Amino acid sequence: MYQRDFDAAQEFLLAAKNYWTTTMFRTLRATHIELMADVKDSARKTDQAVDALQTKTLYMYFAWLERHLQRMKYTGRYGLIPFHAERRDSLLETIETDCHDDYSPELHPKMRLPTYYKLMDTHQHPGGLWADEIAGFVYEFGARSTTPLMGDAHNELHRRFTDFATGEAEFSRVLDMGCGFGKSTLPFITRFPNAHVEGIDLSAPCLKVAAQTARDSEYRNVHYRQMDAQDTKYDDESFDLVTSTMLLHELPTEAVNRVLDEAFRLLRPGGHMVHLDFHIIPDEFRRFLHYGHAVRNNEPFMQDLAEMDLNAVLSAKGFENITFSQFAESKNIDPDDNDVWRFPWTVISARVPGG
Ligand SMILES: C[S@@+](CC[C@H](N)C(=O)[O-])C[C@H]1O[C@@H](n2cnc3c(N)ncnc32)[C@H](O)[C@@H]1O
Repeated sequence: MYQRDFDAAQEFLLAAKNYWTTTMFRTLRATHIELMADVKDSARKTDQAVDALQTKTLYMYFAWLERHLQRMKYTGRYGLIPFHAERRDSLLETIETDCHDDYSPELHPKMRLPTYYKLMDTHQHPGGLWADEIAGFVYEFGARSTTPLMGDAHNELHRRFTDFATGEAEFSRVLDMGCGFGKSTLPFITRFPNAHVEGIDLSAPCLKVAAQTARDSEYRNVHYRQMDAQDTKYDDESFDLVTSTMLLHELPTEAVNRVLDEAFRLLRPGGHMVHLDFHIIPDEFRRFLHYGHAVRNNEPFMQDLAEMDLNAVLSAKGFENITFSQFAESKNIDPDDNDVWRFPWTVISARVPGG
């Protein structure tokens, strides 16, 4: 496959996704508002209108496009999978496997991956992030257009989250749980050059990409390890900041509980925990679209996280100063903006008592 054909096809898909995110979303929302006017029972206006919306061709087309644009992005003729598979050898050559320096990720090839992780092709990525050794490259490319309106500024969200999560505070030991290929870890590495940052993930292919990026950078304060965030191998009170981005919604509820327990155990007294995930959804219409997105994007636990009473869960575990804040998808999109489709980004933050 020629690079230019791949680029053209992926640009076309992104343009179609932008149309879906803006024009189609607006029309769908206007239709929902019209349908609400027809509902007599004022207490159930929004959800009855949502029921009616599901029978409209526009909604079916919206849902079809959401599912199939993502499918074409990965497995279409010019998809990420065939493109990267053709370049397998040259991609793998970019990773220095025979050097055992501080940047070599700690990998455990015999590690038993949790069942939920292997259950389905999350994001419609065939084989998920674990089955193919080039999955980290594929995911890195795919993540550039997860937030379609952000274009080349797709890293901005993670950087802004890091600034928001840390404020004026200084941290010396930071753990990024579910770090993927290091996109969420990098802003912490650069924000705290004197701190030591650990990135953990289940995906060996992603960790290899993350570690190579670290090796190629000027920063020397990070180590990546293959670990399950539910049960890490670190000692108690090893960190003063535990963070994650887009990890919790990928976990079944029991696993979310175990990850939060683990964060509590790993934090020193007074330590901070901050997650960026999908939680606060202020209205029924957006909830309906978000839960539909979960099904269409193969994210079976997304709805459970949105409906979890996290405040009660975190209090019961002993956390204090628990806060939930809506977070803008990009500097230009207000979290209350109803004009475009966007993820229900929420910063979930809490602190361990003492310190
Ligand atoms: C949506 S990705 C987010 C990656 C990264 N934080 C980012 O923002 O780009 C979720 C990551 O969580 C990882 N993951 C899922 N379950 C995990 C677990 N139990 N322990 C560690 N990582 C996990 C996945 O392999 C994946 O890399």
